[in-house]
Parts: sequence; C-alpha cells; structure tokens
Amino acid sequence: MMELLLCLLLLGSVVLEEAVGGDVCVSGHDSGPVFEEQPSSLIYPEGLTEGKVTLSCQARASPAASYRWLLNGTEVPLGLDRYTLVAGTLVISGPEPLRDTGSYQCLAINRCGTIISRAANLKFGYLHDFPPDSRSPQTAYEGVGTFLACQPPPHYPALSYRWLINEFPNFIRKDDGRWFVSQVTGNLYVAKAEPNDTGNYFCFTTINMDISTKSTFSKANQLTVLPDASPRKSTPSIKVLSQITLRWRKADGLMPSKAGFSVEGPTLTLPDLSFDDEGIYECEAYNSEGSDTYQGRINVQAQPEWLQVMSDSEVEISSELHWSCVAAGKPRPSIRWLRNGQPISTQDRVEVNGAHLKISNLALEDSGMYQCVAENKHGTVYSTAELRVQVQAPDFRLNPVRRLIPAARGGQVMIECRPRAAPKPSLFWSRGTELLTNSSRVTVTPDGILWIHNISRADEGKYTCFAENYLGKANSTGHLSVRDATKITLAPSNADINQGENVTLQCHASHDPTMDLTFTWALNGVLLDLENSAGPYHRKENIGDLLTVNAQLSQAGMYTCTAQTVVDSASASAKLVVRGPPGPPGGLLVKNVAETSVELRWSRGYDNHSPIGKYIIMGRSSLSSEWKKMRTDPVNIEGNAESSRVMGLMPWMDYEFQVIASNILGSGEPSMPSHIIRTQQAAPTVAPSGLGGGGGDHHELIMTWTPMAREYQNGDGFGYILAFRKKDTSWTEVRIPHVESSRYVYYNESLTPYSPFEVKIKAYNRRGEGPFSQIAVVHSAEEEPTVGPLNINATALSAFEIQVSWEPVQQLSASGILRGYEIRYWRQHEREAAADRVRTAGLEPTARVSGLRPSTRYHVAVLAYNSAGTGPPSPRTTVTTRKPPPNRPPGNVSWKAHGSWVTVRWDHVTAMHNESAVLGYKVLYKHEDQAALKFLDKAKSSVTLPLPKDNGYVVLEIRSWGEGGDGPAHEIIVSRDSGEQSANISDFLSDRGILE
Ligand SMILES: *[C@@H]1O[C@H](CO)[C@@H](O)[C@H](O)[C@H]1NC(C)=O
Ligand SMILES: *[C@@H]1O[C@H](CO)[C@@H](O)[C@H](O)[C@H]1NC(C)=O
Repeated sequence: MMELLLCLLLLGSVVLEEAVGGDVCVSGHDSGPVFEEQPSSLIYPEGLTEGKVTLSCQARASPAASYRWLLNGTEVPLGLDRYTLVAGTLVISGPEPLRDTGSYQCLAINRCGTIISRAANLKFGYLHDFPPDSRSPQTAYEGVGTFLACQPPPHYPALSYRWLINEFPNFIRKDDGRWFVSQVTGNLYVAKAEPNDTGNYFCFTTINMDISTKSTFSKANQLTVLPDASPRKSTPSIKVLSQITLRWRKADGLMPSKAGFSVEGPTLTLPDLSFDDEGIYECEAYNSEGSDTYQGRINVQAQPEWLQVMSDSEVEISSELHWSCVAAGKPRPSIRWLRNGQPISTQDRVEVNGAHLKISNLALEDSGMYQCVAENKHGTVYSTAELRVQVQAPDFRLNPVRRLIPAARGGQVMIECRPRAAPKPSLFWSRGTELLTNSSRVTVTPDGILWIHNISRADEGKYTCFAENYLGKANSTGHLSVRDATKITLAPSNADINQGENVTLQCHASHDPTMDLTFTWALNGVLLDLENSAGPYHRKENIGDLLTVNAQLSQAGMYTCTAQTVVDSASASAKLVVRGPPGPPGGLLVKNVAETSVELRWSRGYDNHSPIGKYIIMGRSSLSSEWKKMRTDPVNIEGNAESSRVMGLMPWMDYEFQVIASNILGSGEPSMPSHIIRTQQAAPTVAPSGLGGGGGDHHELIMTWTPMAREYQNGDGFGYILAFRKKDTSWTEVRIPHVESSRYVYYNESLTPYSPFEVKIKAYNRRGEGPFSQIAVVHSAEEEPTVGPLNINATALSAFEIQVSWEPVQQLSASGILRGYEIRYWRQHEREAAADRVRTAGLEPTARVSGLRPSTRYHVAVLAYNSAGTGPPSPRTTVTTRKPPPNRPPGNVSWKAHGSWVTVRWDHVTAMHNESAVLGYKVLYKHEDQAALKFLDKAKSSVTLPLPKDNGYVVLEIRSWGEGGDGPAHEIIVSRDSGEQSANISDFLSDRGILE
C-alpha cells in the first residue's frame, strides 16, 4: 500500500515538472483565454471587390492565445489565399458572395484550453433599380382612402421607404396624419383624399449596409383626386365632414401608461417594450355615424440574456463539479455546453442536463476552458469559465495545528486540523502514541476537529493530527496547556437608586495568572461601551467594577459582568432599579363638556418605583400656544386619582389638555394632549367697553365702542344691544347683529345740536344677553360756531413768513366745543374763495403762516371751527411780506487750519435794491451727527472754529441773514490733513474719488 502511494507521488511530481516547461497549464500561474473582442455580423455591399472584410477577435490569456477561424464549422486556411490574420483578427481581401458568405467563428487557444467565439454572419447586400416601365395612373374620390403600391426591386437586406410628391426632395411629411408609409411593403396609404392631393408620387427606397447606403426611386405613380361623387355632394353648402376619432385600447388588460397620448392617434407607440406589454390591442375609429374596430396581437420576444453563469473554479480531484447557466429570453433559449470549443454531451462521468453540467469523480484531464451557450432565434450569448482540477498530497505548511492550545480546567477545547490536500485526506488524531477515538470526553468530527470536554490537568500534552490521501501524508502537532478556571470572587449586588445618582456595581474574579483577564458588562444582554468617556458608563481601573454616572431611568435593568480569559469566562448578574419621576399618564379622555368646565379621565403611567403624589392639569385654548396650569376641582389631585374636573374655562372655546404626574422625585413628562374639545355656549358675561361717541353731521348722534374679542363672545349669533336716551326720557334700544361693529349713528331731524345723551350697551348671543355697561354721556352733533374772532393783526416775519394774532371767541358750550381757528390768506387781486388755509390745533390766538412769496401783499381773515365746521370770518387785514434775502452765497471763501482750529474767511454779501439788507451771517457747523449754529453780525466776515480731534472732517455752511430771511449757503469741507484751501464740496468729493 505504502509503495503504491509513493509511486503515485512520484508520478505527480513528474507531471508537474512537465507542466512548467511544456504545454500543461500551471495552476496559480497560467490562465485560460477570455474574449475581449468577438466578431460581429456584417452586410457587405455586393460587387465591391476591391475592399476587405475585417472580423475582429481578441482574447486575454496567459500565456498569450493563438487563434484559428472557422467558416461554416470548417477551418479557414489562414495565410493562404486571401486570408490574413492580424493579431486575432481575420482579414478577407476581395470578398465574394459565393466563396465568403457564411458563419464565422474565432477560436482562442492556449495551454489551459480553448474557447470559441459567437458566430458572425457575413452576408452580401444589394439593391437593384426599379424597372423602367411607366406605371398606370390612379384616380380616387375626394374624402375616400386609397393607396399607391411601391413594388420595390430585388434587394437584400430590408429597405426603408419614403415617398416623394412631384419632385425631389418634396417628401411626404410624417406629421400629416392622413398619410402612412408601410415599412414592410413600401406602399403609401392616404385617408380622406383631398383634391389638391392630385400629383405624381415616387416610391423612394434606401438600403443600409455596414459600410455604405444606397437609394433609388420608382417611376411616377400618377394620382388624380376627383370631387366627391356621392349625391349628397350636390348641395355643397351643407357639406359636413364628420371628424373621425381614433382610440386604442388593450383588449386583454390595461393599456400600459407609457403609451401616452399615442392611444388617441393613428399610431400606437409603446417605448421600452417588455414582456408585460404582450397582448391584443384594438384600434377603434368612430364618428357621429358609427364606429369600427380592428385588433392586432403583440408578441414580445427577446434575445437570450444571462441570469446566472458559472465562474472559474479550482476543484479537488475525485470530487464533483456542478455548474449552472440560466438565461432569460423568448422563445426560451436552449443551452449547450462546450469544453475547449467542443460540444459536451452526457457520457461516463459527465451529465449534461440543459442548464446544468455535472462532472463526477473529476480527473486531471477535465481541466480546461468551458463555455455555455444560450440561443434562440433572436441571438446567441456565450459565457466562459476555466476549470482547474487540483491534486495535492496533504500539506500543513499554510495551516498547521495551533502550537500552544490553552484550555481551562473543567472547560472544553476545540482543535482544528485543516491541511491542504486534494483529494480530501483522511484525518486522525493521536496523543503521544495513543490514537484518539470518540469517548465520553473526546470527539473527533468527520472533518477532523478534535473536541475535549471537562478538561483536567491530566489532559495536558502533545496532540498530533495525521492526514493522508493517495498522494501522501503529513502531520502537525500542538501542545494542550491546562490552566486554572476563571471564577467570580465578588459578584455585583442588586442596587436601588434615584435618577441622577451615581452607582457602582462590583465585580472581582480569580484566574490563571499566566493569562490576561478582561471584564465586560452587558445591560439586558447588550454589551456596554465602557471606552466612551463621554458616555454614562466607566470602569474602575484593573478591577471589573462598573461606575454609572447620572443614572437615568433607561439604565435600569439586569447587569451582567463577564470575566474573560483566552480559555474561559465567568459571569454574574445583578438588578439595578432606578427611581425617578413618574412616566406620562395614558389614555387621556375629555368627558361631560359644559360651559366653563370639563371632566378629564386618564390612566396612571409608570410610577418609576416611587409612588405618584399628585397630578396637575395643563391646558391651552385656541387663542394661545402656551400650556397653562388649569384650575381643577378638587384643587389638589391626589396621586391615586384618575379623573378631575377642570374649572374656569371660557364658554364656546376650543381647548386641549394634558396631565402631568409627579412624585417626590419630581414631575414627569406630560401625557399626550387630549383631543380638542369646544366648551358649551353661554350668554355673554361682560359688557362691551370703550363706550363713547359724539361729532358727526347735524341731527346725528354717533355712538362708538370697542368690538368684543373672541374670548368674551361665549357663543355664536353674537351682537350688541345699544340703549340711549335724553335724560329723564325713556330708553331707545337698537340691536346691532355684527361682532365687528364698533359704531352706531342715530339720525333724527329733531335732535338739537350738542345735547347730552345717556348711552349704555350690552352684548347678546344665541344663548342670551349679557349685562349692560356703565352709562356714558355722549353729545349729539355740534353746530358750527356763530361768531368770528375780532382784532386781527398780521406782521411780516421775513420774505416768506408772517405772524397772525387775534382776539379769541368765547366758548359756545351750548352748541359745541371750539376746536381751534382757521387762518385764510390770499394775495391782493386774487379771489377770497381761492384762499389758502391753515388750522391751529388748539385755542392759541396766534399762528405763523409760512411758504409765502416775498414783497407780496396778502389779505388775512380768521375763523373759529369745531367738529361741525367753521363759523363766520373775522374782518380781514392785510400784510406785505419782506423783500427777499440776497440770492448769492458769501463769495471767495477760504480757510486755514492751525492746530486744532480753523479760520474761515469770506467776502461780504451786498444786497441789491430789490433785496433785503444783510444783517449778518450764520455759520452752520456739522460734524458727524451733530450740528451747531453760530450767528455773526454784519461787521464780521471771518470766524474761527474748533476742528474735531479725530481725523474726520467738518462741513460748514455759511449764509447771509437779514429781514427777508436766510440767503443761500456756501458749503465747505474742512479737515486737519487738507491744510489750506479755498475749497468747495465738489473738489473735496472728487479728491476722494466720490465724484467724477
Ligand atoms: C455556409 O453556409 C451557408 C448556409 O448554409 C451557405 O449559404 C453558404 O454558401 C456556406 N458558405 C460556404 C463558403 O460554403
Ligand atoms: C389642400 O386642401 C386642403 C382643404 O381641402 C387645405 O386645408 C390644405 O392646406 C391644402 N394643401 C395645400 C398644400 O394646398
């Protein structure tokens, strides 16, 4: 037996040597060919003898592939004749239909195997001319359909068709729905011919080949469209062309939505066709006179497409190979298998079953390139994979038995034995010289794993795994070292804490000192992260204690400490209770909704280990988003209560509520809000406020109040009841049925001006009336003043302004309240009716009027006014405004900065004879947001002013002043850094690039 094995082993190494140098594929070094480029079918124009046909083929392989070609399955004599091979590509010069038509396939070959490409068909295309005979003319009646036949000449392959009218390139337009060109026959169809369709029609055909296209057209088909011959047509004035409408539907299902608007047109378009689109489609044409239908069936077919292919495999000798190739397609593709380009069929160890290939008891010669081929009438697809059959004597070098195998006393250990070997080796274990067999403590599994249970010191020692197949044998040894078991010496104890407190759970363990010990903790079986220093859990150094900081309710549960060495582990658990504020109450319901109260019911939530002490009710109305504590009955709700009344609500208002439980540890989360309820309606309980009024036109009594806000309305059908009377007479009541109303006007011819009325108001709604407000006194409308002011005096203040004063009129309280005075002024020679007017806002008997013209004489009158209007005018007076000020600014302005001061000089302004005299100068000093005005008398023509401390600048305005007012200003800008200048604003701005 041993000798035989040795023989085989020698044989194996001989084969291997041969492979490296010769033509045997070397595993892990060589790889079989895989196509990168395959030939494509081609239509070559017949008669083009000068040209060349190129069929590509390229494969990746190591060592590089060599190539052969087949035509109709027969080898092409490469290098001979007209055939040349360029890399893998076949070039045929001067192709001819008779010799070269056929199916071409490329073979790529190296020492690992051979693969065959898909077939590429070479065909020759042609298109003959149309026969020269002329075609017979055709006629059609208007409104009727007809067709013109194309009768294409002999050709290959299929043509595309278009039609010309009268001359090239006047093609029939595709978007004219009346015309249709069949791409099968080439015939032209017209629906509803029109007289102007009369003309010569030519069928235009085009052939597309891979390297050229060719077109040709027919002789003329002459079409004449005659006027409609039907008797109806004798009265053309009533001709009605009833519109035909087309509609497509799917007879056996729903029309796919991707058909879009094409379902209402002559051509149904289904993009991205899929198998689901198969079925019977029906076109219906209808108009007011009837309808007709036509049905057609769509069968969807598809070329094969891989769903599953095999992949390169390395397999042990003598084992079994299973490969599957699955392809989709319609008709259902058939599957063939090839080995090195040759068909495989079922025989001996090989079983071909459609999509499945099985080879049993694999032998070395099964190695090679495999292909599966899926084909139906629409196409063929190939998939390629390489099979390597391996042989190897057992070898532990890559995967020896562990050298040192520690194990805990009383525990168990698993020792693996995984040599490389092909075929599968038989395995057995020995301890020293003793062969190990299954016993109560020892198990050897069929795949060579050794288990030892309930270990004791005596199990320590060397364990060897032996592996053997017919190519050889090998062994590997490890040392089992028995260690002390790990034990928990101090287990954590149950703890009970309040939320927010810290807690330490203890865990100590003893272990074999030759090994490291680690501790882990789990809460309810989920391992805790003790390394995150930001988290709540921390370990105490070197020992297993667990510190939990700021414990939360969610950290309650069963904690398990595990002490672990490489050989075993030990665990202990303890329960942590975290007490905290109660959880949210549940199931909140609102019952017995009344006008100002509701009843709430709820169920208790978790007490979180501390009894619930009390509840509070929060609520909010639709007027506010804020939750507020509600008044309840009882005022304090005990912790065992599960209902309460909420009091003090507004009637006819939307509310929602929530309940919060608390215990000695605090208040918990609120319950989910209740559903929203509306309280019952009730009569108003408060009276409107802001009652007042007065004013208006003669015979009016105007009463006003503040409309009531939503929270006081208490119900719908809301309005106001207004009551008023003259003292000691009876009340008049009016109803004003609008929430928003804020004003009521009582009109009566007999009302005397400015007489006092007592007024009160109350609100009402559907449920009743509220209380009356306090009584307010409101006067009826006033009458205009009856006397005018006296002793008017007007004086000119400047060229543009006058001052007017007068003797006030006496208050006329009987008919109203004097509000102020109106001053009317108009230029001499103008009409008084066109006078300008200004009003004082109080009873001051003097006013300034500005905006006047210089050197102009004005008439002035004054009138008293109240809310009813103005009284009679006073006697008029006259006044003349002053001459205007000089209209020139001071000239020749210069300035000089010295230290923190600046001195500005200018030339005097001299008044002309029609201007008022200059009495002096005003200098306006502006710095940042501040301004100061300095008056100078007319003797001065310079001024010295302080400069700002910062580096800012100062704006100065210098103008003359006099009786007629202020003259125009000269404006200058002064800054420390600009020294001396006769400056003006535009220089300054352009210096700084602000002004161009
Ligand atoms: C190859 O086969 C096709 C189809 O059977 C045939 O038409 C063609 O003539 C053949 N080609 C040659 C070169 O024999
Ligand atoms: C042909 O006549 C129809 C009406 O019968 C008219 O709408 C159409 O524009 C005409 N076409 C041409 C090309 O004159």
